Amino acid sequence: MLQCPKCKGKLHKEEKVYACEAHHSFDIAKSGYCNLLLDNRKSTGDDKDMIRSRTAFLSEGHYAPLKERIIEILSQLFVHTLVDAGCGEGYYTNDIKRRIPSMDVWGFDLSKSAVAAASRQKSGVHYFVASVSDLPLKCACMDAVLSIFAPVYEEENYRILKPSGYFLKVEPGPQHLLGLKKALYDTVYENEAAAMSYPHFRLIREEMLDYEIQLSSGESIRSLFRMTPYYWKTSREAVQRLYARQCLTTRVQFHLELYQKED
Ligand SMILES: C[S@@+](CC[C@H](N)C(=O)[O-])C[C@H]1O[C@@H](n2cnc3c(N)ncnc32)[C@H](O)[C@@H]1O
Ligand SMILES: [Zn+2]
Repeated sequence: MLQCPKCKGKLHKEEKVYACEAHHSFDIAKSGYCNLLLDNRKSTGDDKDMIRSRTAFLSEGHYAPLKERIIEILSQLFVHTLVDAGCGEGYYTNDIKRRIPSMDVWGFDLSKSAVAAASRQKSGVHYFVASVSDLPLKCACMDAVLSIFAPVYEEENYRILKPSGYFLKVEPGPQHLLGLKKALYDTVYENEAAAMSYPHFRLIREEMLDYEIQLSSGESIRSLFRMTPYYWKTSREAVQRLYARQCLTTRVQFHLELYQKED
């Protein structure tokens, strides 16, 4: 399944390292994840604060309906091997494994802090620090790739998927977090759908999951805000106004697209 990031040879698991026949070896952390980024490629991805905020927000269950829908779709597709590409701290990944224990689940993220948090849950997912643009996986070894609010590298997904493999992508819908945006800005625009096309894949199903969430503490509002891109581009006055609130109702909207690899 795994290939060495240095020589592309087969990578196997030993007691405390992953190693290849050319004697490249990569330590396994106590919690079980392994960093397969090469030294010259600095691990970036989401930072600790962002991860802390996302963990706090997601633990309140506001995105549980999305998680349920993803588990339902994957169960119906009879997926046995799954990659969560840009898995963050494993909110979806760990529960997919817990709910479908027969599935072999692999989580990859560029952020070491996120992967460390994900693997501390000991769910049985194989976790690695790696870029989804250059996955340490053999060609045609996976049944499905899941990508939730994460960068997509079509060629790489195509390479690692088996023939007729699935690619399930989740991105924000046009009205995702509209209530939060209204609380921050005088003029609010809908999110633009990124005009993406994946020539190696065929879109076989798409749907919009759409509902309202109620945040009933200042802490939840702040956690949500800090995990969004608005955190980086909002005036101080607007942030102070938001932080003074103790409740907020906002729409969430998830666009799910299911693609199948064209052979
Ligand atoms: C918005 S978060 C979503 C995380 C997770 N899928 C979720 O929905 O909870 C995007 C994630 O993509 C990761 N990321 C960004 N660029 C990446 C790359 N090139 N390779 C792997 N992960 C990447 C970030 O570190 C972050 O954890
Ligand atoms: Zn090697």
